[in-house]
Amino acid sequence: MIINLWYVAEWSRNVTDKPLKTKVLDQNLVLFRDEGGNIQCLADVCMHRGGSLSNGWVTDGNVTCPYHGWQFEGSGQCVHIPSAGADFKIPNRYRVDQYDAEEHYGMIWVFMGDLPEAERYPIPPLPEFDDPKWKMLEAEVTWNAEAARVVENGIDIAHTSFVHPSFGGDSSTNEIDSIESNEYWGKSVNYMRPPAMKGWRKNFRKEGQRTRATPEWYLPGFIVRLQVDINAKMNIIMFDCNTPVDENTTRTFALQGRNFFPQKMFDKGSLKRLHKVFDEDKAIVEDANPFYLPETMMNEVSVETDKFMTGFRLARRRLIEKNGWQIDSFAKRDLMGRKVVTIPSPNRRRANERGDGWVFDSVPMVPAKNSGKEEQQTKIEPQPFLADD
Ligand code: FES
Ligand SMILES: [Fe+2]
Repeated sequence: MIINLWYVAEWSRNVTDKPLKTKVLDQNLVLFRDEGGNIQCLADVCMHRGGSLSNGWVTDGNVTCPYHGWQFEGSGQCVHIPSAGADFKIPNRYRVDQYDAEEHYGMIWVFMGDLPEAERYPIPPLPEFDDPKWKMLEAEVTWNAEAARVVENGIDIAHTSFVHPSFGGDSSTNEIDSIESNEYWGKSVNYMRPPAMKGWRKNFRKEGQRTRATPEWYLPGFIVRLQVDINAKMNIIMFDCNTPVDENTTRTFALQGRNFFPQKMFDKGSLKRLHKVFDEDKAIVEDANPFYLPETMMNEVSVETDKFMTGFRLARRRLIEKNGWQIDSFAKRDLMGRKVVTIPSPNRRRANERGDGWVFDSVPMVPAKNSGKEEQQTKIEPQPFLADD
């Protein structure tokens, strides 16, 4: 699991002025709306005696711990301690980690890390969301799988022939037209020859009709975006935000958009087909081994048509090996139930710079390569087909 990225923590509509518990990167979070309706996101653990803030309530825009009634404002600072009396000056150190939260596309995005704003990869664009030509539907899926495996499956064109019979044609006829990428994003244009659509939709796409499919991956949000151009006028997009709830669980906040048949009567069939596709993927991905994406390219093999997925793997490994942004889940597991560790937040970073210190320790991290702290070297071995990249 990787810190210092934006992730989707919840649907916007679920967050009110009543605290809501959610989990991202194996950390419980409390989400609530303050008096101005702004989303606030704090680590869901009180630094007094470990109360869960999400079991509390909101008082004058502050989340109130249900154990002894301490109140925390949106910045994470404790602002009221009933038992200490009005004269008690609350130290700066009485605060919990606060994570930046924004609302986009009907979802709450939280920045899980302490990187300054200017250095963050942006929240991926979804221009169709506000475009009246597009009808957007929401869906949600929980996978017993690691988020990186889920992303890789979503951008894999070749599996459709075997896992999704309604869409995959003969995989040997798939063509990769182009691939482009930067350090946090990649896009590939492909042409496929899928089977004809079924039933009343049969005239929209004929058997083996050359069909464009454009998958994209984004590291922020662990997003898979897929556009399928059924024909010249009918396009479908998927925008799946694959949130690592913990290292074994991924919660996908999915939006499906179509620029045809805006009527509500078509939504039910669309959603049914979408969930069928997710079920087909889950049956494969949840049983894939190793459970986690392999740490090197040496322990699996790839062919030319896997090149786009390899780009995602390499970009992700850069965050781990160059930036040192991977949580050491095994070290964290050793601390379970004995010690609270939280994902570093910008206010923790500022407090440390001021020398104020912080009550909770930071979650253990896998050291970056060449940081002098690594115990064991793992190499990214280039594959022959990457030679031209
Ligand atoms: S544990 Fe939260 S107020 Fe005491
Ligand atoms: Fe799939």
